[in-house]
Amino acid sequence: MIEFDPLSEAVFADPYPFYRRLRDESPVHYSEQYNCWFLSRFSDIWREEQDHASYTIVDGQMPMQLLSNPELEEMIESIDRGELGESIAALDPPRHTQVRSILAPHFKPTAAKALEDRTRELVRGFISEWVDRGECDVIGDYAMRTSVRIACIVSGLPLDMADWFVERVNSMFERDETDQGFSLRAMTLVGELHAWLEEFITERRRKPTDAPDAINALFNSRPNGKPLSDKDVSANVSLMLIGGTETLPKAFSAGVYRLYQNPDQRAEIVKDPSLVTAAFREVLRYDMPTQALGRTVRIEKEVRGQKLRPGQGVLFLWASANHDAREFPDPDRFDIHRRAPRILTFGSGAHMCLGAHVAQMEGRVMLEELLAVAPEYEVLEDRATWIRSEVFRGFSSLPIRFNPPR
Ligand code: HEM
Repeated sequence: MIEFDPLSEAVFADPYPFYRRLRDESPVHYSEQYNCWFLSRFSDIWREEQDHASYTIVDGQMPMQLLSNPELEEMIESIDRGELGESIAALDPPRHTQVRSILAPHFKPTAAKALEDRTRELVRGFISEWVDRGECDVIGDYAMRTSVRIACIVSGLPLDMADWFVERVNSMFERDETDQGFSLRAMTLVGELHAWLEEFITERRRKPTDAPDAINALFNSRPNGKPLSDKDVSANVSLMLIGGTETLPKAFSAGVYRLYQNPDQRAEIVKDPSLVTAAFREVLRYDMPTQALGRTVRIEKEVRGQKLRPGQGVLFLWASANHDAREFPDPDRFDIHRRAPRILTFGSGAHMCLGAHVAQMEGRVMLEELLAVAPEYEVLEDRATWIRSEVFRGFSSLPIRFNPPR
């Protein structure tokens, strides 16, 4: 019988052997300790995530919200939900559909394409700051600076606050060794971020602009005939900022690392940059940063003969699904020529990542521009650091060295 504790040291260190055993031995796995189910196979997650009648997201989607734990419940209950407002990530259909459709035009493929020149300009600016040094941190000097700024541009947040946002967003998911819950420092910084956003939104409502950004779309909308409150606008802006900033640098740095480990594949891309799109998609499959998100069972449901009961948590182990041999031949092989018809990196249901097209555009542009100046970079593995988190897996810093272009 497999023991699976997503907050254990062993799983933090390397979850993939656990995922494999779960898929093979206990694909719908119940943890009594957490009163929570873990789904690990691709087809199960793909299907269950689309069953909006049986599950709800209203009670949260983060592992910390779904793993039943009295201490954490107390802490979460102490956060007054009405105080924070509701983002789309906390709504079920049909309300979710109404509010998401306000934001959707800002994230469609043509919107992502329209952001490409701006992204390239930003990325080239960052590169010019360190290219002569022949060294950079792929996350701190490059990907994080890009992702936060694109999230600001889409949302309508001021770019001069970008570094301040990064510090607060980063603190949200990092756990130190003594603390698997939220640290006091994290709570303080997150509190500051929410307070700042609320004030900013109130101020923007007082002094309207005609910028074509998501904030104005939210202000001008009337879902179900009523405008959104400032708190709800703020919660959605916070979601776009956090979702847009945090995940992409982890995926991108993993890609830089995988290509370093596979120099033949890297050389192919350098020779033929049209391969970058497919290569980045393989990175997204292979090193899915977001380990798990989930739902709460609303109506009793049977999955693979197991009875899921109302009130129980269900975590979708995305990273496991992306390595399921039932979906991907030879899943642990990194292969930029793999043309996987579907991956579970952005979800599959109504809550599917809104930023998927923007994220793939950013990843492609950053990779193209990095390989143009540093086609044979070396990863300084001894200086790389990892994030310690139950949600994300990936580097928090990834230094590389290269010969500066002449
Ligand atoms: C590689 C980068 C990214 C990954 C791996 C990722 C992953 C995800 C996942 C797994 C979800 C939940 C899906 C579900 O429950 O079905 C999600 C939701 C979301 N993501 Fe992303 N994301 C990325 C980048 C972005 C970017 C760049 C933005 C915005 C600029 C963004 C904005 C959002 C939003 C707003 C949601 C909530 C959608 C909803 O609840 O309807 N994400 N993302």
